[in-house]
Amino acid sequence: RATDETLYRPSVHFTPATGFMNDPNGLLHDGRYWHLYYQYDPFAPYAGQVHWGHAVSTDLMHWEDRPIALDMTEAGEAFTGSAVLDAHDSSGLFPAGTGGIVVLFTRATAKAQTQNLAWSSDGGTSFTEYAGNPVLDVGSNSFRDPKVVFHRETGRWIMVVALARQHRIIFYASPDLLHWTEISRFGPAGLPGVDYECPNLVELPVEGGGTRWVLFVSINPGAPQGGSATQYFVGTFDGTRFVPDEPVVTLIDFAKDFYALQFYENVPSGDPVAIGWMGNWQYCEETPTRSWRGVMSLPRRMRLRRDAASRLRVVQAPEGLEALRGPEIEATVGRLEAGHGVELPLPANAALDIVLSVEVDPRPSGLPPGDKGRSGRFIIGFANANDDLLSIGFDAFSGQVWLDREGLHGFSQPFFTESFSVAVTPDTRKVSFRIVLDACSVELFLNDGMDVGTALIFPTAALDRLRMETSGAGATVRDLHIYPLARAMNR
Ligand code: FRU
Repeated sequence: RATDETLYRPSVHFTPATGFMNDPNGLLHDGRYWHLYYQYDPFAPYAGQVHWGHAVSTDLMHWEDRPIALDMTEAGEAFTGSAVLDAHDSSGLFPAGTGGIVVLFTRATAKAQTQNLAWSSDGGTSFTEYAGNPVLDVGSNSFRDPKVVFHRETGRWIMVVALARQHRIIFYASPDLLHWTEISRFGPAGLPGVDYECPNLVELPVEGGGTRWVLFVSINPGAPQGGSATQYFVGTFDGTRFVPDEPVVTLIDFAKDFYALQFYENVPSGDPVAIGWMGNWQYCEETPTRSWRGVMSLPRRMRLRRDAASRLRVVQAPEGLEALRGPEIEATVGRLEAGHGVELPLPANAALDIVLSVEVDPRPSGLPPGDKGRSGRFIIGFANANDDLLSIGFDAFSGQVWLDREGLHGFSQPFFTESFSVAVTPDTRKVSFRIVLDACSVELFLNDGMDVGTALIFPTAALDRLRMETSGAGATVRDLHIYPLARAMNR
């Protein structure tokens, strides 16, 4: 228990006080609060009897616990779903002249998965289940995770929901959130895995102008890195049908712990913001915390940017984290000659937000014949006196980055993959990093969010040393800033 709290409990990421948490649900800004509902077993640190947990925030960083919002009932567990603000009472469920929060979610038993509606007249704290539930039943036990958005151009509600085993996303439309008509289907497409889960449909701004629709589909198990992962398709949506621009699928993360992401509805700034669950179904019930399990990712602002091949890619940045930054930790690295490094102490009990960019020198000249100089690596290591090491590195000559948790000794399990990599910068020897390190989690944003790696990490003691070194070629470190982050979660 001591380790759960002192070593692994994050301070700027949402975790449940006790019990087991997985997917974010019902992400909605209601004009006053950011709501975070989540898949929750309050009784044990295992995915068991699923309820909807609930927390609220005014800044997406400081969360206040609220009572359980939806219970498991005789009708089944309360699986993943979404929330909308029915401000004009299109459902007719609210007292005349008012509106409120409506959630659509899956009731799941071994035999059936159906879509159900509940509404709240007290600002999202308690819910009444609609007497006409389920609102959708297709006679399947693999039909789940409705995400509802309002489509302005056609003035109707759109639901995307997974026909999980068939690798299809069904699109429904409704004028009132109660009556739903199928309007199109998507898939099988991309990576099938075993199940499609947690679809999300969102219109994202393209940097430089315009927008594009993006369909996110989580798959589990069977992702390329193993277990669960989220893929996305970029295309158009005309109110009825989603059409991808190209037969190309991209994964949202190059590591293994960012799943079931969901977008916020009704964001005041209009910026698309999403949260994912930092976990993977391959090992989430075995990670070495016992009193609680499950971590939410930082809220992330999402956009589209053209990559070197002119393909639109989702780019991500933490939303609101800067507000927690404390006074910068003094650190200068600058020029590192080949084979050299520096080491700096880190505060052991604070989450950190670290930014830097690096340029690795061209291949050294005068190499022996045949040696093409395939070295030239810049390495950032987080370490401690227990010989734990988290290593993040850039191989400049192949333009690839790695994230390696093999050197951390607090957890091992056959599926707890140790090392991940991503191709980041064709034809350049430069890369920028933003690293958010918080107890049992690391989120790595490369090149201004173009590639992101999200990983759970389990050292045996706090990582309190930072090393930077190069091998094979010199490197120059620029714009290095290390900020301790003020504790946001009161646990
Ligand atoms: C995704 C998921 C959903 C389901 C929920 C159950 O992680 O499997 O498909 O609704 O978790 O907790």
